[in-house]
Amino acid sequence: MRMATANTNATEFGDEWRPSVSTNPIHLQTMENGLHRYITLTKENIGGEHICCAISDKKCAEGYAAKKEWLSGEFEKGYVFRRLDARAKVFIEYVPAEHAWAPITAPNHLMVNCFWVSGRHKGQGHGSTLLQSVVEDAKGKGKDGLVTVTGTEKAPFMSDTEWLLRHGFKEVERLPSGFSLLAMAFHDNCAVPRFNECAKSGECPGKDGMVAYYSARCPYTDYYVNGMLRVLAQENGIPLEVVKLESMEQAQKSPTPATIFSLFHNGRFVTADLGVCAESKFTKLAKQIGYSQTK
Ligand SMILES: CC(C)(COP(=O)(O)OP(=O)(O)OC[C@H]1O[C@@H](n2cnc3c(N)ncnc32)[C@H](O)[C@@H]1OP(=O)(O)O)[C@@H](O)C(=O)NCCC(=O)NCCS
Repeated sequence: MRMATANTNATEFGDEWRPSVSTNPIHLQTMENGLHRYITLTKENIGGEHICCAISDKKCAEGYAAKKEWLSGEFEKGYVFRRLDARAKVFIEYVPAEHAWAPITAPNHLMVNCFWVSGRHKGQGHGSTLLQSVVEDAKGKGKDGLVTVTGTEKAPFMSDTEWLLRHGFKEVERLPSGFSLLAMAFHDNCAVPRFNECAKSGECPGKDGMVAYYSARCPYTDYYVNGMLRVLAQENGIPLEVVKLESMEQAQKSPTPATIFSLFHNGRFVTADLGVCAESKFTKLAKQIGYSQTK
């Protein structure tokens, strides 16, 4: 379906970069900005459409299927996965914050989850177009604003904080463990989003060795945690407890805002970088935290 509604304000990109987005959510199913076409995944089309990450990574085939299954369940709660209609990592995911798998409270907001324009696709206006589509959708649904969790500094597997701050978000809370809660308010009278208490201390209940939290929100996590991290921890003689977040309720009570993946050591948050499950980063971390058995 081609968008046919009138464009609004001029943008720094010129007309060709301006998304032509209707406030009718149905029109957001397929969206064009003159040069690019974006599609929204649904229960009906997800079987035949890719989900951007781990598209052809055979090691992650189970996680890929698990994420598709997870998405299919979340669509019923208003979850949106919108991407460039191409074989590319150009996508944004969002959901009513009340249904977000994150320990936050943000009444009547949409929460932006993964938001990624990768590699050569950057700087062509995709990020602005996708974010604008979320703003339009949120306003069309009478929401008060947007909210998202990022790192206080740019971190792997987290959205780009600086870019979001330049595009209308403001930091409303910051945790010593290195997380920021960013919000974009559509008016002055809306509730200010907050992290839930459970995520504020940067500590998890398990105090002995490593504890990894993960969920099916990302197609890479299953293989990285169960296929790699478990092996490396065992090889290095490091106790490891793995906690899979299986429900929204569990995720909203999680000790970490990074419910895709988070690693703790002796009860303290260490990192949300899934790359730590690979040997080089793991070995470096193991040495840093004082395990002498490392190879
Ligand atoms: C932050 C991010 C979403 C931006 O996406 P993008 O598509 O590059 O964004 P845009 O093209 O809309 O804007 C990027 C910049 O390019 C500029 N730009 C856009 N179109 C342009 C054009 N045609 N010519 C020149 N500049 C252009 C914009 O002015 C913008 O500048 P600004 O940042 O100063 O505002 C993207 O860089 C990203 O995903 N980063 C990594 C985040 C990440 O790791 N996520 C992982 C989650 S698992």
